Amino acid sequence: EANERESLYLVNEFANTYFQNILHKTDQGKAIGLSYFKERGFTNDTIKTYNLGYSLDEWQAFTDEALGKGYQLEFLEKTGLTIVKEDKRFDRFKGRVMFPIHSMSGRILGFGGRILAADKKAAKYVNSPESEVYHKSKVLYGLFHAKQSIAKEDNCFLVEGYTDVIQFHQTGIKNVVASSGTALTPEQIRLINRLTKNITVLFDGDAAGIRASIRGIDLILEQGLNVKVVMFPNGEDPDSFAKQNTLEELSSYLEDNSKDFIQFKAALLVEEANNDPIKKAETIREIVNSISKIPDPIKREIYIQECSRIMDISEDVLFSTLAQINKKER
Ligand code: CTP
Ligand code: MN
Ligand code: MN
Ligand code: MN
Ligand code: MN
Repeated sequence: EANERESLYLVNEFANTYFQNILHKTDQGKAIGLSYFKERGFTNDTIKTYNLGYSLDEWQAFTDEALGKGYQLEFLEKTGLTIVKEDKRFDRFKGRVMFPIHSMSGRILGFGGRILAADKKAAKYVNSPESEVYHKSKVLYGLFHAKQSIAKEDNCFLVEGYTDVIQFHQTGIKNVVASSGTALTPEQIRLINRLTKNITVLFDGDAAGIRASIRGIDLILEQGLNVKVVMFPNGEDPDSFAKQNTLEELSSYLEDNSKDFIQFKAALLVEEANNDPIKKAETIREIVNSISKIPDPIKREIYIQECSRIMDISEDVLFSTLAQINKKER
């Protein structure tokens, strides 16, 4: 319902202002939150651009403030800012630095909150729950700040996390959004698809998630987008890499290391199969399966030719495998 949604937006926007005031104007905010962001290398400009904030390390400081200002508990609970348990109320984001999540038009949909101390047992990030205004699967973090440069550059960099987006933007690469750690969804890809047909996926350098991310990329191919991928050096993610490098260094790293996704996947799988014939057969089916997702028949043909070379297998076999897959899908 439109009225209820508006009430949730108003609560989120109040919280957004509140958390920023705490960060910039209170002793605890400055000593803990602001110095945390400074250590991460974020400038004041960046902190303000992304509306970063801090939530006091107290059980219900935010909730009390909001209720005192006349915001209704019902909406505080529905946005997830307040957790209600019997007659008790808790601030969801107690003692965390705050990353508000903007809609495409700049309204506040929800928040991510990062814990400060690495040794605490709690989750590193806590996020707003699903609500009338926040649907995780339909949102890309950073899109509000990136949309113009995505269109202008005719390319979108896709990263994993909040800080990757922010550090890239600060370094000068503004066409960047994050899936926020979850598998990419068709709705998220559609958001990018309206702005550009070119997407460059940046993997964290830990290699753990690469296999899993690779599966999700077929969804991008299905929507007819051109996909490139870039890997970062071991242990680095886009944030840590950008923090250590100038715009020129970062740009040339991205240029020198971006690979066509299909070629990258073919080469990776061949290497993994390591001349084991059965594995190699599986590999061929998997790569042809990715190619089968590409709507444009000309591109499909070109990729078949390339993969024939990379995988050292005849084009005929690849084409007949493609035909088999198409038949099964119909
Ligand atoms: N994430 C989450 N909950 C977690 C861990 C991660 O929601 N417990 C999401 C966050 O959006 C995070 C992204 O997944 O930004 C990527 O996770 P990760 O690479 O672990 O975190 P970083 O973004 O690198 O965060 P940091 O540099 O602050 O450690
Ligand atoms: Mn990661
Ligand atoms: Mn990361
Ligand atoms: Mn990181
Ligand atoms: Mn930098």
